[in-house]
Amino acid sequence: MIMHSPPMISSLINALPKAELHIHVEGTLEPELILEFAKKNKVQIPYNSVEEIKKAYRFKNLEDFLNLYYSGLRVLKDEDDFYTLTMNYLERANENNIRHVELSFDPQAHTRRGVKFEDVIEGIHSALKDGKKKYGISWLLILSILRDLSVEDAMQTLSKAEEYKDIIGAIGLDSSEFGNPPSKFKKVFEKAKTLGFHRVAHAGEEGPPSYIHEAIELGVERIDHGIRAIEDEKLMQELGKMRIAFTLCPLSNLKLNVVKSLENYPLREFSKAGIMVTINSDDPPYFGGYINKNYEEVAKALDLKPEEIIEIAKNSIIASFAPERRKREILRKINKVEKNYLDNT
Ligand code: ADE
Ligand code: ZN
Repeated sequence: MIMHSPPMISSLINALPKAELHIHVEGTLEPELILEFAKKNKVQIPYNSVEEIKKAYRFKNLEDFLNLYYSGLRVLKDEDDFYTLTMNYLERANENNIRHVELSFDPQAHTRRGVKFEDVIEGIHSALKDGKKKYGISWLLILSILRDLSVEDAMQTLSKAEEYKDIIGAIGLDSSEFGNPPSKFKKVFEKAKTLGFHRVAHAGEEGPPSYIHEAIELGVERIDHGIRAIEDEKLMQELGKMRIAFTLCPLSNLKLNVVKSLENYPLREFSKAGIMVTINSDDPPYFGGYINKNYEEVAKALDLKPEEIIEIAKNSIIASFAPERRKREILRKINKVEKNYLDNT
């Protein structure tokens, strides 16, 4: 029986309306755009072609990747660049049938090199508004704090977020994990809660399971990655009881050597423990694929059943910060795809 053949699984994945909850706008910078912006803004880069850029995308670990990521985003200079970057992602999001996106951005990576916070956020915001009109993609913006910078810097950035409270929906925590545990930002996350922001944090990507525990203590509502929870049975049980969501990024984990292969990717173990697993793309051009490719590669490696794939898509909506009405609207569409699929197999 060819019920779960790869083409059928691919078309199911594509047909499913999804939310993307873990995606860095700066991480959607395609090589073509790097070249275009470098030329326009007269920024020196060590590459002359798309091929040369792609060749550089071999990473030993997170640190290795982040060096390239921060170097690449130097080509972004003005509001128009941030608009173009975001619009380019939304076009691909639409092709991947993403109906709701929670987009992270790293303002400190721009303000520290002299780009105005206002230009960053206005460019991204204009594109999100246009993307909603053009593609019907609803959105929430996550301001991500760079954990390798100081708490004072984070507090100043949070003040900026407060000025843009009508645009920014959540505060996140990313960048170099080792040596920068979530507890370092206790004050920042307490203030973020008082101000009424949702809170998320990268934890247990490269850092130990104790960082995931600390992120929970900070009061985060979702864990970005969380993959190393698999090493701590007791922690897994706690997380499962809470029904916390993990925003997993399989191709990112593979490229950064967080996992050796996707055949042992612990998605089912997380799910069995009660954790709400979602699949996302993190920094797609750097890691070799947008959201559908991430779904497909995991589905293939773990031989996921259609019901499991549908459940992951539903989780992405349930674990999002979208208004309840919007969640119900997308879930109804998923139910239709599910019914259609079952009727035809
Ligand atoms: N910033 C962009 N991508 C990241 C990742 N995978 N981990 C931490 N910080 C990031
Ligand atoms: Zn990330």
